[in-house]
Amino acid sequence: MSAYDVAVIGAGPGGYVAAIRCAQLGLKTVCIDERERDGKGLLGGTCLNVGCIPSKALLESSENFERAKHGFPSQGILIGDLKLDLQAMQERKRKIVDAHTNGIAFLFKKNKVDSILGRARIVSGGQAYQLEISSSATVEAKHVIIATGSSPRKIEGAPFGPRIVDSSGALSFEEAPKRLGIIGAGVIGLELGSVWRRLGSEVTLLESSPEFLPLADGKISKEAMRLFGRDQGWTIKLGVNVLYINEKDDIVNVVYEEKSGRVEQDFDKLIVAAGRAPNTQGIAEDALGLALDDKGFVRIDAQCRTNLPRIYAVGDVAGGAMLAHKASEEGVMAAELIAGRKAEFDRNIVPWVIYTKPEIAWVGKTEQQLKEAGMEYKVGQFPFSANGRAQALGEAKGFAKMLSDAKTDRVLGVHIVGPYASELIGEAVLAMAFSASSEDIALTVHAHPSLSEAIHEAALAVAGRALHI
Ligand code: FAD
Ligand code: NAI
Repeated sequence: MSAYDVAVIGAGPGGYVAAIRCAQLGLKTVCIDERERDGKGLLGGTCLNVGCIPSKALLESSENFERAKHGFPSQGILIGDLKLDLQAMQERKRKIVDAHTNGIAFLFKKNKVDSILGRARIVSGGQAYQLEISSSATVEAKHVIIATGSSPRKIEGAPFGPRIVDSSGALSFEEAPKRLGIIGAGVIGLELGSVWRRLGSEVTLLESSPEFLPLADGKISKEAMRLFGRDQGWTIKLGVNVLYINEKDDIVNVVYEEKSGRVEQDFDKLIVAAGRAPNTQGIAEDALGLALDDKGFVRIDAQCRTNLPRIYAVGDVAGGAMLAHKASEEGVMAAELIAGRKAEFDRNIVPWVIYTKPEIAWVGKTEQQLKEAGMEYKVGQFPFSANGRAQALGEAKGFAKMLSDAKTDRVLGVHIVGPYASELIGEAVLAMAFSASSEDIALTVHAHPSLSEAIHEAALAVAGRALHI
């Protein structure tokens, strides 16, 4: 039996990053993952194979298609016979995914991380843990990092098949469905709905919550909903109760209740994007007593320790924000702690990005959260319509908003709906990590013309001294 200092279960952004960091810190490390294609292991987890990377590849291609169709003529660029080659678009996506997953195999080799293909289960404890692996190997490790991630949540009466699909199925359509229904107007619903709407689908989002994007700042959600509905023709139905889903012949028939009454609607494809559930089934022998919370996530402390000695859990399986960068940060923290170093991770400054058009990004507290906490705060806001670079891009929609403490001026949250919000939010994260005030940002020179000037102006606006509005 091979003996290791650390066994990492799961090679997603939580697990593979933890494994690399463990090895860098001199720990003998193995990473086990069951994901495979044609008997060959696929590293990178949900994120690289069926999540962040393939979705962003399709979002980029579909956005370029839409720009060529509707955006170029206003710039004096006329393309005669614009065509879509979806097969080539999907092939490009596959190549990007392969390059990334192969890259992790290379990093494992370089860092001397052993990689095993198979399903792992922690079967016994003591001085070291024994892990049984489905591929018949057994390994022993002093420390274990559980990074098994999450899977799409199923909803009753909607078995996945050729017409009712989860996010993975929706990344692989061979043609744009004419009528696309999506259950859940969350992050996946909006991103994958964007891809297929741009490629020709009529998209209807059926969301049970009466609120649109409740995690985001209220003003941002409102503006996003207005832009999606007004400019892009999305049909977004909130407060809907899905009653029945029936597949018949070539269609999916969905019966739901909305304010005006009962509605029956046919779709060519239905995406179920109603959240994700943690992968904890069979992860550890019951007798070991690994504690889960009431939603099935592995229970951890602030430093990702489980209730069992020397076992950590990181990423989606451990609850909190289901984001790749959060998983990786937790993975690094667990590795540092195992190596006997000090490590912590401030979950208050994890950025969120939704890759729609316009993009939506935020970090820190929303206005609703500050109100609920009874905190006094100042607000600065600046529209992209007054930003030269956004105008030149043809994307002068949305705004940047900054919230700071009324007394100390420390930045408490930054919220953006607008072009390249995913890149702009980095400045806000850094500012918050260094406890910057809005005045610090206001006193910092920002290049002209650049989108980052909107952040600068929002910071100036906190003190009521924005220049270009
Ligand atoms: P995962 O990436 O899920 O990896 C877990 C791995 O563990 C899997 O490969 C699985 O095969 C393996 N595994 C499970 N059980 C076992 C076992 N018993 N034995 C062996 N192996 C096992 N996040 C972002 O931050 N940005 C984005 O743009 C983004 N886009 C997304 C788009 C989509 C369509 C989806 C579905 C998700 C997206 N996410 C995004 C979320 C992101 O993918 C997850 O938060 C991230 O992958 C979590 O990483 P993880 O390491 O915790 O788990
Ligand atoms: P989500 O939690 O973002 O959204 C699910 C939505 O479905 C919610 O709004 C919920 O109210 C709704 N819902 C649940 N059950 C329903 C039902 N029966 N009928 C109608 N609506 C219902 O989850 P989603 O979109 O599945 O994504 C999972 C996670 O993956 C996200 O929370 C996010 O953390 C991660 N992700 C991150 C991305 C990014 O960072 N850009 C991109 C995609 C996913």
